[in-house]
Amino acid sequence: MVSAVNNSIPTEGGNSTNGKTLDACTIVIFGASGDLTARKLIPAIYHLFKEKQMPSAFRVVGFARREKTDASWRQELRTALDQFSRTKPVDDKVWAAFAENLFYCQGDLTDDAAYKKLETQLTEFGSGPLRENLLFYLAISPSQFGEVVEQIHRCGLLNKEGAAWQRIVVEKPFGHDLASAHALNQELTRYAHESQVFRIDHYLGKETVQNILMFRFSNSIFEKLWNRNSVDYVQITVSEKIGVGERGGYYEEAGALRDMVQNHMLQVLSLIAMEPPVSLEAEAVRDEKVKLLKSIRALTPEDVAKQIVRGQYFAGAVDGQLRPGYRQETKVKADSNVETFVALKLFIDNWRWSGVPFYLRTGKNLPMSASEVRIQFRPTPNVLFAAKCGNTIEANALTLRLQPNEGISLRFNGKVPGTTLGARPVRMHFSYDSEFGAYTPEAYERLLLEAIAGDATLFIRRDEVETAWQIVDSIRAGWEGKSLTNREFYSAGTWGPIAADDLLAQSGHTWHEPQVIK
Ligand code: BG6
Repeated sequence: MVSAVNNSIPTEGGNSTNGKTLDACTIVIFGASGDLTARKLIPAIYHLFKEKQMPSAFRVVGFARREKTDASWRQELRTALDQFSRTKPVDDKVWAAFAENLFYCQGDLTDDAAYKKLETQLTEFGSGPLRENLLFYLAISPSQFGEVVEQIHRCGLLNKEGAAWQRIVVEKPFGHDLASAHALNQELTRYAHESQVFRIDHYLGKETVQNILMFRFSNSIFEKLWNRNSVDYVQITVSEKIGVGERGGYYEEAGALRDMVQNHMLQVLSLIAMEPPVSLEAEAVRDEKVKLLKSIRALTPEDVAKQIVRGQYFAGAVDGQLRPGYRQETKVKADSNVETFVALKLFIDNWRWSGVPFYLRTGKNLPMSASEVRIQFRPTPNVLFAAKCGNTIEANALTLRLQPNEGISLRFNGKVPGTTLGARPVRMHFSYDSEFGAYTPEAYERLLLEAIAGDATLFIRRDEVETAWQIVDSIRAGWEGKSLTNREFYSAGTWGPIAADDLLAQSGHTWHEPQVIK
């Protein structure tokens, strides 16, 4: 696994984790009244505390504009935790002890005095690590990053040098194209070193995504096959049953390409396809990921027309329930051309993968919510059983199920018992739950812990985010000024537009439905 944090065996006292020191520190959340804080961040910190994985001393300070007291903020968070905690019911005793560490600081992000107030509040925690070791979580709009970073630097809370540490955690979207991502990077690194910036992609916090490297580089039998000699094609599906719901306004600016491909899907692709890193150190792993992203063949507008399919859902039924079309969603333009589905055929021009297509697809309002990677191996020669049994002989496939039913399956052919020569594909399954129990930490738990420990392996480096935008920008350039055509619409509840099937059919390939393991 990339990260060495051991979640199943909490460390005594909770101040070190698998060799990584967890210093006492304060987490300052900008955007403390927001959805992310209540849904993800506080539940994650609560669980880490419950499992004795937080540093032995810590504080959380929520910074936001609304008037609140410590007590009212705590009450609000408790109500949210009752809803969003991954373990229910919330343990009252644990919560009471946890809540004592939560503080609220009311202030406007544009007001100098508010940062002074924050500084005073932190100083009240003493002159030691709770005042000096600071993790700033920017759960705010990227347009406000620059201001906040400058202000916290100005009042002495963020320093590039010193014995203590200060780090900045930022959420996606990290820009909307290469130029804006570059500008954001400039802003963030004006007052902080790149090593102090932790860009989140919550997919990297998922157990199964982290397991990709463990699986690849600790099992010799698979790694030997992991190349153009054995692999016919690779398919990565991240399908979602949900539509855009209340997020129409955001989605109009984003679309599936920026929302899912630029980050989550290219991250999964790079872990699947990268070369072995020289060590598990953050820079070594990230060097290989960047190298891989840079090897993705550049796309001209002509390539985009041939290799990238976009789609938008119209009204249809998902699980028997009628869903409105995208253009009828709240805050969406009636003639919007924004894509809610995208399918890509990419090539990686390096020694290992030359000529192997990588198919990626993601979309909203699809028939199921599932993320998986399928490695499709080359078929056997058409002699012996393949010649005799015809198309019942399938090529082998290895599927990494990222969610749900997390696990790995290998598909191969078996003889159907009997006197005739019949073949049938069968599967060998590994399931996380049955092997390790149902304990799966939320992605944010892992990521927060890594940020506190100062390990950037699971965070996106500056050149990584910029390279990913370069790929996405080239696709957007191919779509520029082109309205969606009829072939690019799909009914909610189906697997995307027909054009996505045609994309694979050109090479004699087909999309495989994600596996449902009962
Ligand atoms: C987010 C996207 O980053 O990831 C959402 O903005 C998407 O549109 C979500 O629904 C998917 O995450 P998960 O963990 O549910 O697969």
